[in-house]
Amino acid sequence: MKKNKNFHASWSSRWTFILAAAGSAVGLGNIWKFPYIAGENGGGAFVIVYIFCIVIVALPIMVAEVTLGRMGKKSPVNTIRDLIQSSDAQKSFNIIGWMGVSAGLLILSYYAVIAGWALSYIEHMISGNFHNINAENAGLVFDNLLKDKNELIFWQSLFMLMTVIVVIFGINKGLGLAAQILMPLLFILLIGLLIFGYQQGDLAKAFSFLFGFNFESLSWKAVLVALGHAFFTLSIGMGAMMTYGVYMPEDSRVFSNVLMVGILDTLVALIAGLVIFSIVFVNPGIESSAGPGLMFVSLPVAFGNMLGGLIFGTIFFVLVTLAAWSSSISLIEPAIAYLIESRKCTRLVASLALGFIAWIFGLGSVFSFNIWAEEKIAGFNFFELIDFITANIMLPLSGLLVAILIGWKIKSKMVEDQLLADSPKLFSTWKWAIKFISPIAVIVVLVMGIYPRLA
Ligand code: TRP
Repeated sequence: MKKNKNFHASWSSRWTFILAAAGSAVGLGNIWKFPYIAGENGGGAFVIVYIFCIVIVALPIMVAEVTLGRMGKKSPVNTIRDLIQSSDAQKSFNIIGWMGVSAGLLILSYYAVIAGWALSYIEHMISGNFHNINAENAGLVFDNLLKDKNELIFWQSLFMLMTVIVVIFGINKGLGLAAQILMPLLFILLIGLLIFGYQQGDLAKAFSFLFGFNFESLSWKAVLVALGHAFFTLSIGMGAMMTYGVYMPEDSRVFSNVLMVGILDTLVALIAGLVIFSIVFVNPGIESSAGPGLMFVSLPVAFGNMLGGLIFGTIFFVLVTLAAWSSSISLIEPAIAYLIESRKCTRLVASLALGFIAWIFGLGSVFSFNIWAEEKIAGFNFFELIDFITANIMLPLSGLLVAILIGWKIKSKMVEDQLLADSPKLFSTWKWAIKFISPIAVIVVLVMGIYPRLA
């Protein structure tokens, strides 16, 4: 607000918004999480449901979030509060802002742990540990990392520090710029890996695994995971995109920008999936359902056995770290913006305090891979529980409320002013999706996905 000029500055151009939003969207979700949950949920049908969720549920909600940010021009908590006041919406919609802030910090808590794995893999790559490695030994390297809680805490802390430092300095220069350089580079490297997968792996099998229609293996739980991941990967359901919408230049077009981000994000996920599974299928030591370690076991095998692999491998894990970095910032920024606006906190204090809270929670995820590995609640260890509650419940729930708020509660005139000029056709399709399709889909999936766990 007044005190904080940065918060109201806008991106220097349309492309900076796209790249920054893509920087938030493209992260561990695409390269690490998508392939492993696709593997755990049987591939093909899961991927199709996921793409469906992106197109008919998540993209309309992303448009809604960005638009809310453009209307409210404040941090999510205050944007929502102002919009509730200027329409006849119930006060209970305020929960969107609060749920967003807590989901962001909880996700960040384990995000830093996984990003820490990527950091430690940069070290492994540089020191040549993966030279000519086979799947079995790659698995051992990974298992040893997980067992060593001090090592995990070291890398987790380093990543959290990196995140906090960028947000302390304000998000304009650092992030916009980093995203501009980073995204194209990451894309090129993934294409390079895809060529490796084609030459040395089983790309055809990876393709039919990811795009085959094996609907028998699809459960409601898998549909819920697919829906949750659609929210997670596009960074929606917690106000990150709302915050980035605030920074969007007045005259830019929401629909085409959002679509662009959606396409980029999906492409990165699908290519990462193809790369990883083409390697998995020629290495009997790696299971497609290997879980969170999937990329950390399969990719070293690829890099360790290709020409110049250790150099490419180093660059790859640097890029994964950077992709995670440009995402982690958007997980903490809405909470910081709120503390600055409403609690008269300086950016420095807000960043340090929130980073510390997320770090503490992250220790629970660190321990889930060693000393707490056997401690389960409802079948989940701590890391899995936080992941399940945030990605599969909080994000869709808050997306649902966003859809209801913008579709039914806020004055249509206000929404039209923001979006109609973009394209009247797209607007009426979107309006229909946000009023009916997205909310109904979320409700059905939430109920069917959660009910059996409770019953
Ligand atoms: N989208 C990021 C990824 O795929 C993670 C992320 C960043 C996120 N900001 C978010 C997830 C906000 C949910 C909400 O890695």
